[in-house]
Formats: sequence, structure tokens, C-alpha cells
Amino acid sequence: NPKELQQTVEKLTKEVKIVTRNIGKIDPKNIEEYIANDGYFALAKAFKMKPHEIIEEIKESGLRGRGGAGFPTGLKWEFAFKTQSDQKYIVCNADEGEPGTYKDRLIMEGDPHSVIEAMIIAGYAVGATKGYIYIRGEYYGSVENIKKAIKDAYEYGFLGENILNSNFNFDLSVRLGAGAYICGEETALLESIEGNAGRPRLKPPYPPQSGLFGKPTVINNVETLANVPQIILNGAKWFKQFGTENSPGTKVFCFTGNLNNRGIVELPMGVTVRELLVHAGGVSGDKLKMVQTGGIAGTFIDESKFDIPLDYDSFAKYSVSLGSGVILGVNNNHCVVDIAKNVMEFFRHESCGKCTPCREGTKMVVKILDKMSKLEANKEDLERLVEIANTAKETALCGLGQSFPVPLLSLINNFKEEFLDHIENKNCIANLCKKVERK
Ligand code: NAI
Repeated sequence: NPKELQQTVEKLTKEVKIVTRNIGKIDPKNIEEYIANDGYFALAKAFKMKPHEIIEEIKESGLRGRGGAGFPTGLKWEFAFKTQSDQKYIVCNADEGEPGTYKDRLIMEGDPHSVIEAMIIAGYAVGATKGYIYIRGEYYGSVENIKKAIKDAYEYGFLGENILNSNFNFDLSVRLGAGAYICGEETALLESIEGNAGRPRLKPPYPPQSGLFGKPTVINNVETLANVPQIILNGAKWFKQFGTENSPGTKVFCFTGNLNNRGIVELPMGVTVRELLVHAGGVSGDKLKMVQTGGIAGTFIDESKFDIPLDYDSFAKYSVSLGSGVILGVNNNHCVVDIAKNVMEFFRHESCGKCTPCREGTKMVVKILDKMSKLEANKEDLERLVEIANTAKETALCGLGQSFPVPLLSLINNFKEEFLDHIENKNCIANLCKKVERK
């Protein structure tokens, strides 16, 4: 159908490359190729600006945190700028533990200097002279390319003392994570850099007031930072032409699960799941049953929500997460109870154990879901799941404990009939949950 084909082509060409512009185009290990593509020009421009002017530009652009939570980046920088201290830090959160998310990995592997350049700009803007990139330990390619890029940046005078004759000094080093999901939580990450066990701190105080070693610290995600040089070079107005009013710019989405295509795509904020599925090449397997948006802590939705624009407002407005940008396809060979159990087992395993609602809550929901998967659960068990999830949402210490209820509640709210089928009819539509015969 020519009309459908035309529509598909239009959707596929909507890609806007800001943070992915150099990936696959330049040799990431060659600093000169980065420079030849406007690399470090934003830094030179930033040094001609006053620190507060840089912060104003980032605030004006509306850039928000791409790790998942969407906090305004310029505001974060401003808080750190305004906090007086003998020492401040810039930390890049490159721990990327969210299952199915691999955008930061591809940015670091494909364009490491964009992250480094942004960190130096952030340092100059807020008055920080030291930076750390905390990289997920299994990301060997990212570690290698970032380390090489840091070495070259020192050699070319972009790091170290009196950078580009600006009188500004900035040092940068790498720290590696060791496979704990919780170390992506910013305060657990800070504890880890300090050499302590990766357990979250109570917030407030937020890191811009008291962060690494108790000093004012800006923590930004890789993708957030990779936007910064382009905003400084092209201006806030240019950036705001992409995306939506409250969520300007683009988002890098990652495809995973039962979808035909693997990989990332950078699209303007506000793109719908239906449009993303075109980029994903559709479902692999018989029929698409649901999509999880936003990562393992995100929402499971059915087709009735595929036309909701994904941005930082979509969760509050429609209960659909943007999160870190994962699009996980689930075909109809799967069952909601089995998926819920699988996801909750992940959280039980990754819970750091510091607070009770998360430590005990994740154990309790896994136990109930296990019972349900043996077709032994009753209606009270379902009510209990909701009760535990709501309690954790309200009372858990950090983002991990507050967000394991999100996928669970979205499954229960959007696919309640299937849960009830397991309870009332002792039936699993995908034939995955079975009664266990007892002697
Ligand atoms: P949060 O909403 O508590 O904080 C987000 C950021 O805003 C933090 O940097 C925080 O310090 C800052 N902030 C919030 N209020 C502030 C204030 N009043 N003053 C100064 N700064 C303030 O969210 P959290 O727990 O840091 O992150 C949750 C998100 O992380 C979820 O949306 C989830 O999607 C995402 N996530 C991403 C992963 C990944 O691999 N990219 C892994 C796991 C979760």
C-alpha cells in the first residue's frame, strides 16, 4: 500500500541525531576526528562565556536528566554553582544498570569525547575542578574508549591545568562499578566512589549541596551530558525546536525483547510507542501482547496506550514511563504472572537490604507471585500484592524500592483479567504456569 509505505518512510526519517551524531561516523579513538567534527569548539565557546551565562543557556534549553528521572539539568548546575565550597565535583553516572538499556554504552563507545567535553564545561560552569566517570564494570569497550579519550584530551590540553589558556583546571578519572544495580542510584554511586558499600543515602541533602566526600557535586547521566556541547554550540533556541514544550530535545531509545530490530534510535521527545515499533521492525513471534516502556522499573502497556506521546509528562498524565528509554516487546507466548515474577525476582536480588519496605517487600511479592504461578493463589493474594506495592512506593528509601511497584502495578492494572484467570479459573493463557503435583 503506497500510502502506508509513505507514512512508514516519514516515520523512519524523523530521526534527529544530536547525541548520536558522531556514532559510526568518526573513529572514537581518534581525537582529531572529533575535533574535525566541531569537537571541543563548545568548550572554547564556553570559556568566552561567564559561568552563570552557561548555566542560563542550559536552563533555557530545558534539558532534563536522561538517566530516567528528568530533573532539569540547568537547575542542578545552578544549585551546585550557588553552594560555596573549597572543592566541587562533576560525576558522570555511566553505570547504566537498567536491563535492556545500552544507549550510554554506545555513546561512550562511539563518541567518548562528547561526554568528556561536557564534563569540563560543567566543571567550569559550577566551579568544579575534579570529575569522575563511574562506568559499569562489564562495559569493556566503553572503559577502553573513555580511558583513551581522557589520555588524548590531556595530551591536547583539554584536561589538566590552564585549559586553552583559560586559567581553569580540570582533572578527570574513571571508576568502575562491579555489577550492582543499586550503584546506579546516585548516592549509592557516591558511596562506591568513596570506597564504601554501595548503599543509598537519605535525600535531602541532594548532591549539589552535599555529594562526593560531602562536597557540592553535579551528577549527570551520559546521555544528558552528551547533549551539552551541542546546546552550547547551537543555542537553547535551536535545541527547543525538537521535542515537546516540557521535554525539549531528543531521546535515545533502545529496543529489546520480542522485537525484530536491536539497537538504538534517537528521536524527538514525544514520539509514540506505535512509531517506535515501526523503527523496531515490529514484533518477533506471533502477535505483540504488550510493551514495557522505561526499563525494568517502567510500565507494561497494551495497544490502547501505544499512541501516548512519550516524554517526562507521560507518567504523571497517562501512567506510561519514559524512564531510560527502553522499549521491550512482549509477544503472546508470555504470561503476565510469569513476567511479574521474573521482574520482581530481579528487584529482590538487587535490593541492597538497607530499608525494610524494599528488602521485605520484594521478597513477599516474589513469594505471592510464585504461588500464583503454581495456580494456587486466591483473590486476597492479589490484593496483598497491591498493598505491598503501594506501601513500598510511599515508604522505601530510594528509587529502587520506590519503583519496583511501578511494573507490578501496571501489570495488575492493565492485565487484571489475566491475573484473575490464574486465580479463579486456574488457567494460564500462555500455558506457562502449572499446578505442582504434591505427593
Ligand atoms: P529522583 O527523582 O530522586 O532524582 C533525580 C535527580 O534529580 C537526582 O540527580 C536528584 O539528586 C535530583 N533532584 C531531585 N530533587 C532535587 C532537589 N530538590 N534538589 C536538587 N536535586 C534534586 O530520581 P532517582 O532515584 O535519582 O532516579 C530514578 C530514575 O532512575 C528512574 O526514573 C529510573 O528510570 C532511572 N533508572 C535508570 C537506570 C539506568 O541505567 N539509566 C537504572 C535504574 C533507574
